[in-house]
Amino acid sequence: MIKLVSKSEKPLKGTVTIPSDKSISHRAVIFSALADGISTINNFSKGADPLSSLEIIKSLGVQAEFKDETTLVINSSGKLAKPSKILDCGNSGTTMRFMSGILAGQEFNSTLTGDKSLSKRPMKRVIEPLTLMGAKINSQDGHAPLEITGSPLLGIEYTSKLASAQVKSCVLLAGLFADGLTRFEEPYLSRNHTEIMLKHMGADIQISGLKTSIKRSLLKPSIIDVYGDISSAAFFIAAALIVPDSDIILKNVGLNPTRTGIIDVIKLMGGNIEILDSYVRSGEMAGDIRIKYSNLKGCTIEKALIPRLIDELPIIAVIAAQAEGETVVKNAEDLRNKESDRIKAIVQELSKLGAIIKETPDGFIVIGKTNLKGGASVECYHDHRLAMSLYVAGLVCENTISINGFEWVNISFPEFEALFNELLEV
Ligand code: S3P
Repeated sequence: MIKLVSKSEKPLKGTVTIPSDKSISHRAVIFSALADGISTINNFSKGADPLSSLEIIKSLGVQAEFKDETTLVINSSGKLAKPSKILDCGNSGTTMRFMSGILAGQEFNSTLTGDKSLSKRPMKRVIEPLTLMGAKINSQDGHAPLEITGSPLLGIEYTSKLASAQVKSCVLLAGLFADGLTRFEEPYLSRNHTEIMLKHMGADIQISGLKTSIKRSLLKPSIIDVYGDISSAAFFIAAALIVPDSDIILKNVGLNPTRTGIIDVIKLMGGNIEILDSYVRSGEMAGDIRIKYSNLKGCTIEKALIPRLIDELPIIAVIAAQAEGETVVKNAEDLRNKESDRIKAIVQELSKLGAIIKETPDGFIVIGKTNLKGGASVECYHDHRLAMSLYVAGLVCENTISINGFEWVNISFPEFEALFNELLEV
């Protein structure tokens, strides 16, 4: 689908509620399948990725039904059943990496596949620790499909070179089915929703700084409230910062400190962003955020911040093109392994719109502030975050742009355009 986006002649004004967090929705549905009893997930995401996780747990014999538009009820015995078909993770790396950890220790065999983009993404990062635990996984040189022979697992002490919540979660989930203690250490703190939710659901888990350990546990069913996704909010935050005279409030946004790197960076850039109200439920923080149009300056994003804003780097490139001076992103090489090579893709596509942006091996450098000419056709490389970043860039381009493959927004944020229109029509 081709989407035309023209310069916004109006500021963004008003209040919207940000839809459900993709990361937490995946965890809620997958962990509820491992609990003995009935769990209720309030505000489950309708993005295609969490729906892939939902379909997979159903194929593993778990009952799941929507009570209304977004309330999902899961009824499980805590035991998974042998699937009668290949398990399709679609575009979702989170689904594949989490499920590989869980399926490795079952008493049955299973196969995980994914779409073209997911089949290119690296799975060695999970195959390696799982194999050390005793898992038997056959892959296509570290890529999907993954053929998993269910095997007894033994806990390991694993020090990861990557600060990846997906790898961490995979190992901890395998630890739920392993004998002995499983210990995972990461170089920087990546998002910790898994640890918070597993603890909330009664897992035998200990967290100490960058080290987490877990023992075999049966999870307790739970009621899980999923907050708004800060990674989705980031596109609205960016638009309000760069479209003149904007002033918006985003309600019920997840504010887990392992995800709020984007807010820190915006403050560093001199952006007008304020947390109005915040609250904690089941260990996860959320609140309302007010953002106003701002005169921004460039900044350097340090290494420790990267895991806290990994999914926001494409939209940060757009913001940086509207900030005075240089913005430098480095130590973000893993951005090349996301739904697309996000370094190459964002540099190439923003350049077409007139941004001054240079690719580096592990990030990019943007020189602003640029009057974006636009008037070009851009690609989103089957990548939802590219599609939404380019849409926001289009709002400040002199000439209308066209985005190819815009339907990929549905992976995480089907409500994206409708919500934007709400803010532009006030
Ligand atoms: C995710 C973790 C991140 C992120 C992805 C979702 C998660 O990946 O990019 O969109 O839900 O755990 P990595 O942990 O591989 O960096």
